[in-house]
Amino acid sequence: MIKRALGGLIALLLIAGAISVITPQNSIAGEIQEYTPNISAEEYEKRYNEFYGDATKKMAEEGNPAEMLLDDGKALFQKVDGSKGKSCASCHGQNGEKLKGAATTYPKYNAGIKGIITLPVQINRCRENQMGAKPWKYDTPDIVAVELFVKSLSNGMPIKISIDGPAKPFYEAGKKMYYTRLGQWNWNCAICHIKYSGHKTRANILSTNRHHADHWPTYRMAWQSTGTIQRRIINDCIKNMRVDKLPEYESEDIRNLEFYLTYQANGLPIQVPGLRF
Ligand code: HEC
Ligand code: HEC
Repeated sequence: MIKRALGGLIALLLIAGAISVITPQNSIAGEIQEYTPNISAEEYEKRYNEFYGDATKKMAEEGNPAEMLLDDGKALFQKVDGSKGKSCASCHGQNGEKLKGAATTYPKYNAGIKGIITLPVQINRCRENQMGAKPWKYDTPDIVAVELFVKSLSNGMPIKISIDGPAKPFYEAGKKMYYTRLGQWNWNCAICHIKYSGHKTRANILSTNRHHADHWPTYRMAWQSTGTIQRRIINDCIKNMRVDKLPEYESEDIRNLEFYLTYQANGLPIQVPGLRF
């Protein structure tokens, strides 16, 4: 465990060394100078396989521990809760059949909140408004389980995020966030996941962002549990950027960021639960 943590630290220091030579990017009147991807998603996949061999395949064959959470999610979906005596299943079908495909368009623009709505926020809105139940705290087991169940109803179906019309400014805001320098290291997401993607560090190969949003909720070995993409972003990547005050789950910046990132995965099939180191 200590060895692994050390590996991570060394990896971070190596990246820090590599990026210290970059001069700050110019941003002209709010326009972002996008980086050119260092490698294609296909090339990344090749390097990933060379680096890790069949370790992740083997892991998958042994079974994904998140499958148990999926069962919990289904049970919670069918469980009556709140003052109106309803369950999710009362409105969306006993096995969620009416929500088949729904997850492929999330996150999306929602006129009611005049912003981007993610699946967990939609689920909590249904709890409050439709069931008279208390909203769940984000990224806790119950809501992750139900999100996982709802998403699994779209497994194999391509992600199709629309960034047209009123959604556009939120997409731009998400992109801006992706390129915003944060924390003591003065990094942004794009340095690691676009500019230096494919770079080998001791513990990792930096991924391209093409596949970042197609497999959440995901079981992570490092967590020994299943979590959301927002946990990955806030509690791992943003924390590693040495940001003093971490953003809140489902805050506006983070919803926009997730929206931007999910659009990068457009056309890829949803595959939940994911499994990662
Ligand atoms: C009383 C009926 C009712 C209940 C109970 C209910 N919902 Fe909903 N749900 C709706 C309605 C109506 C909508 C349409 C959008 C809206 O009003 O928010 C919706 C929308 C949704 C959507 C988005 C569908 C889409 O195509 O965009 C999801 C996902 C969802 N609900 C999940 C849930 C979950 C999970 C639960 C249980 C925690 C739940 N709902 C409980 C009525 C309900
Ligand atoms: C210092 C480099 C660095 C920065 C900056 C960084 N990340 Fe990461 N990120 C990593 C590493 C290392 C991993 C784990 C290996 C991989 O998948 O690239 C990772 C993994 C991820 C994953 C999970 C990928 C998967 O396949 O499950 C997501 C999503 C992600 N990062 C998003 C972000 C976002 C959004 C930001 C900006 C807020 C960001 N990262 C900033 C290094 C970084």
